[in-house]
Amino acid sequence: MRRHLIVGNWKMHKTAAEAAAYVRRLAGLVRQSAKVEIVLAPPFTALSVAALPAARRFAFAGQDLHWEDAGAYTGEISAPMLKALGCRYVILGHSERRRLFGDDDAAINRKVLAALRHGLRPILCIGESLGERRRGQTTRVVLRQLQNGLRGISKVAGRHIAIAYEPVWAIGTGQAAAPEQIDSVHRTIRSCFARKWGRRAADRLRILYGGSVKPDNIIDFLGTAEIDGALVGSACLNPRSFARIISQTQSARQ
Ligand code: 13P
Repeated sequence: MRRHLIVGNWKMHKTAAEAAAYVRRLAGLVRQSAKVEIVLAPPFTALSVAALPAARRFAFAGQDLHWEDAGAYTGEISAPMLKALGCRYVILGHSERRRLFGDDDAAINRKVLAALRHGLRPILCIGESLGERRRGQTTRVVLRQLQNGLRGISKVAGRHIAIAYEPVWAIGTGQAAAPEQIDSVHRTIRSCFARKWGRRAADRLRILYGGSVKPDNIIDFLGTAEIDGALVGSACLNPRSFARIISQTQSARQ
């Protein structure tokens, strides 16, 4: 059975001091469970909280990286830097990066390759816009982002990748996708993996859903076997609400 993954994407929120207080608070609210992995993705400037004793039960993720290891790239952060801070994961290809900062499929692919080269597990985000869904292009868009994102990756390295399906229209809108819509896209993603790397690789792949996940609706998404966890934005910023999402996932997995 695939281990569920609950990831809190803090986006551009919280100073290092606020992050430390959050981690201590969250650690007091959640219990350990082997069946659910909890991942926190603070901004780069707060990743040092990964070294706190209270952070021991969490894994950490960067929210992005640059594909070069080092060099004259003002403002950028590399995979070895994230690794040195204790990150296990890195979120790549988030729709906000694609839309606001010009990350295209080719750049995202270079980032995925760089992460894997340094032993970081990419959480590759893909998802269609509202217009694309209305025009019936969801499958085409999602497969394009997936295939381009995974270009040049070996089957062995592919084991370390998780996919987050985040329809752009569901992010920050309070309008989560319906479980049936998610289920259908997740099946498309898993079939693509099966064609590329075989059934066993596809069965092992964790596919998360992201987009307006809240304590009140998380349970709706855990009912389908195709959804292996969630990438949570605004509802992860309050430790109490994130802890409720985590505990419901843990209960659903017992
Ligand atoms: P919200 O949960 O705020 O919709 O954000 C989702 C997201 O973008 C997570 O990466």
